[in-house]
Amino acid sequence: MNIFQSLIIKKVTGAYPALKELVGAALFENPKNPEFGDTALPCFRFSSVLKKSPAAVAEELRNLFEEDDSFESVTNINGYLNFKYRKERYIEYVCGSFEKNTLFNDIKSYGGGKTVVIDYSHPNVAKNMGIHNLRSTIIGQSIYNIHEFLGFKAVGVNHLGDWGTQFGKLMWALEEWSSYEEVENKGILFLNEIYVRFHNEAEIKPELEEKAREWFKKLEDNDEPALKWWKLFIKVSMDAYNDIYRRLNIKFDHITGESFYIKFLDDTVNRLDERGLTEFSEGALVVKFDDSENMPPCLLKKSDGATLYATRDIAAAMYRLIEFKPNRVLYVTDVAQELHFAQVFKVMEMYDPTNKDIFRHIKFGRLSFPNVQMSTRKGNIVPLSEVLDRARDKVLDIIEERNADIPDKLQTADKIGIGAVIFNDLSVSRIKNIEFDWDKTLSFEGETGPHVQYSYVRIMNILEKTGSFDTIADLSLIKDEFSYDLIKLLEQFEPKVKQACEEYEPSVIANYLIELSKSFNRFYQNNRVVGEEVKTMQSRAYLINILGTVYGKCMDLLGIPKIDKM
Ligand code: ARG
Repeated sequence: MNIFQSLIIKKVTGAYPALKELVGAALFENPKNPEFGDTALPCFRFSSVLKKSPAAVAEELRNLFEEDDSFESVTNINGYLNFKYRKERYIEYVCGSFEKNTLFNDIKSYGGGKTVVIDYSHPNVAKNMGIHNLRSTIIGQSIYNIHEFLGFKAVGVNHLGDWGTQFGKLMWALEEWSSYEEVENKGILFLNEIYVRFHNEAEIKPELEEKAREWFKKLEDNDEPALKWWKLFIKVSMDAYNDIYRRLNIKFDHITGESFYIKFLDDTVNRLDERGLTEFSEGALVVKFDDSENMPPCLLKKSDGATLYATRDIAAAMYRLIEFKPNRVLYVTDVAQELHFAQVFKVMEMYDPTNKDIFRHIKFGRLSFPNVQMSTRKGNIVPLSEVLDRARDKVLDIIEERNADIPDKLQTADKIGIGAVIFNDLSVSRIKNIEFDWDKTLSFEGETGPHVQYSYVRIMNILEKTGSFDTIADLSLIKDEFSYDLIKLLEQFEPKVKQACEEYEPSVIANYLIELSKSFNRFYQNNRVVGEEVKTMQSRAYLINILGTVYGKCMDLLGIPKIDKM
């Protein structure tokens, strides 16, 4: 709600206390036709209280504003009261809210220090990071940034898939075919190869599966050689992941994989037992759900006593409640894990009904690459580092083609490639499936990462020439509609970021960036800045300075790197 709207509320409820319950920020609408004004108050709901038709109510309310010079016009159109803000006042108000000492102050207190745990990226150790991990990493980090900016205490957790029988397979295979040194030298890609080779051999010799189980058992028993292998897998994997995290600017507060929770598993199962939630079913220990839930039972222990992914997630959920006292715990994974999380969350709720609203599955759709099927077993996974490398190389070609004079070409190309991949992912609502298209993603025109980065470069270029005016300039010189539209859009910054946070939807910010960039283009086509008469130049530079701050902040929230020259 802006100050004009609060002014309206104050006036209306002052004159008609009976409307107090009905008038609020949520009631305001955008006028059907922008010509009508800047905001509209529908009067239909007041009609029964004041015992008059909506049009008559609107007419009566309109009289309240007869003498008010905050508004250029107040009109009654079919039961809607339409307000046109007095431009100078509005411009002053919006620009004032971006003044240095108050900048973002309000917005930063929104979260009130409440804790939000975010579980994202979480690749499976010994496997290359896959495409679903890319989406999880990018979306998760952005959700983290947004929460942190709004004054939540964000806790980022990388729940590595570092436990399970697959490690037994690798251990047996490596003991047979390779050495510790070879793995250390060749890294994660080699582990992927070995994994594929194991599966191919096991198809002919099924007894290998038994060998793998024996090795996993050794790991569970903390047997020294098994432990040594396992630690190497983690090291080699983290080296590869960290490389990507560095490039994408990804940070975690905790790297606690599934193995971290092994020590809590017995206690976890006992707690569920004590509440009478567990039972045996065909030799396995399960939690059954009400028929109305329409879900298969949650498997805690197989008949051989082995625990599962879900057991470890329940232990992790309990741990997080105690350790972080969170308001929310978010799990950023693809839709394929929907049932898993529905089960885990239901178990947590059955264990303690107050847990009901805490856990959320932030699910996203599939990202597919043309002509590539993804299955780690067969080995034809698209390694993430290759996607980023390819993006960089293609951008490098484009730069060469344009013959652009850019310093640090390689580094710049990497940043543009990364920005392109991130923006491509975050510009559509997360639940949608994305078909990756290299040309579209890397294009310098249209609604793309490179275009967003390019607009920022232009904004900064102007400010470099004019100097940045971060104290109030003569705002009365800002008169044209393009400036006014831009200012109206700038006012949207706070509500957009809050909406992105409430809906866990970075795409709201990505689309806002596109709107800003279009509005900036229209502004700049119609308003000369550099070379303009000094006072006018200053007021325009002042506006562009605010735009630069907002624009840059949005890029940061999405994780899109900034570039000096392009
Ligand atoms: N490692 C899993 C995968 O790559 C995702 C883990 C998600 N987080 C969780 N707490 N279960 O599919």
